[in-house]
Amino acid sequence: MPLPSDIVVVGAGIVGCAVAYELARRGASVQVVDGRRPVGMGATQASAGVLAPYIEADERNRVLFDLAVRSLHLYDSFISRVVSDSGVAVRYQRTGTLEVTTSDERMATLRNVAARLEAQGLPLGLFDGRAARAEEPFLSGDVVGGLLVPAHGFVSAGELTRALAAAARSHGAQLIEGSHVQRIEEVDGDLVVETDRGPLTGNAVVLAAGSWSGQIEIVGLAASVPIRPVRGQLLRVMWNGPPLRRVIWGERCYLVPWDDGTLLVGATVEEAGFDERTTVAGVRDLLDAACDLVPSVWTAGFIGARAGLRPASADQLPIIGPSQVLPNLLYATGHYRNGVLLAPLTAQLVADAMLDNRIDPALEATGPRRFGRL
Ligand code: GLY
Repeated sequence: MPLPSDIVVVGAGIVGCAVAYELARRGASVQVVDGRRPVGMGATQASAGVLAPYIEADERNRVLFDLAVRSLHLYDSFISRVVSDSGVAVRYQRTGTLEVTTSDERMATLRNVAARLEAQGLPLGLFDGRAARAEEPFLSGDVVGGLLVPAHGFVSAGELTRALAAAARSHGAQLIEGSHVQRIEEVDGDLVVETDRGPLTGNAVVLAAGSWSGQIEIVGLAASVPIRPVRGQLLRVMWNGPPLRRVIWGERCYLVPWDDGTLLVGATVEEAGFDERTTVAGVRDLLDAACDLVPSVWTAGFIGARAGLRPASADQLPIIGPSQVLPNLLYATGHYRNGVLLAPLTAQLVADAMLDNRIDPALEATGPRRFGRL
């Protein structure tokens, strides 16, 4: 079968836009379609953009850990390429994370994590409470210690997604917003993507519709793609005084300091179906957690709250790989808490597989086959 050259990407969140950009940059003709407008209006718009594999991907889950670390390593060059191809500025910082705790038991765990990561050669700092407060003077007196990972950082997920869309367009990609995808079907060797505003045809499709991936009918599939939404609420407050120096990560929330004086406070983890509303409970829990960690959040101005639906598979690994049912349908979905972090690597794995028939060994574990005949 000839390699595809004419590809429809379903979903214009950070993963869909990254995939579309990479495919277009490597010469494919690409259409990106999404039911919402502008780009990044699903989970992406409620992401704090934290890039922290050594916190979020436990190294005992080797597959996620390896993917996340590989993707972090791609980030510097990914950002400079996207900014240069798009002309769109993207705020991106690698100022590290300080994971802190108020419990001696958790501190013992952080010491074990530090020992394991140090053995892998990762630069780290392990602090007692006083040293942690020397690093971040606003931390609560209850903090008993923390683990600094200088390699971590954060990026504006919204700016990056808009830059990716612009960069994809600069390589000829076409963006179709406000068209809801209903069905994907093979017709005479092509793949037809049926939308409420008419069909799109390509010789391949990438399904990157996040939490909505399972709502798209794939003709020939006995069941829908097993992805469920997990709501995350995120707050934005206006910080008073000298900024925090880096992301502060606690057991009940994390804080992301922007150089415009705002602070993001994330995030709830809730089974709320497709309900994308913010709630009093979510806002209150996050504010309580933030004030416990950094008491002067109490005096911050409240700007607002957002909610997004993280796409989770049953084993919380992304689903990246070709369908066994429709030749030339490839999944790039289910990134759960790590869509922003995993976007550069996902784009590379998808483009390698589709355009060069290079199947990265990682796709063995991320492929859809683990959930049956998809
Ligand atoms: N990656 C952070 C979150 O999902 O809340």
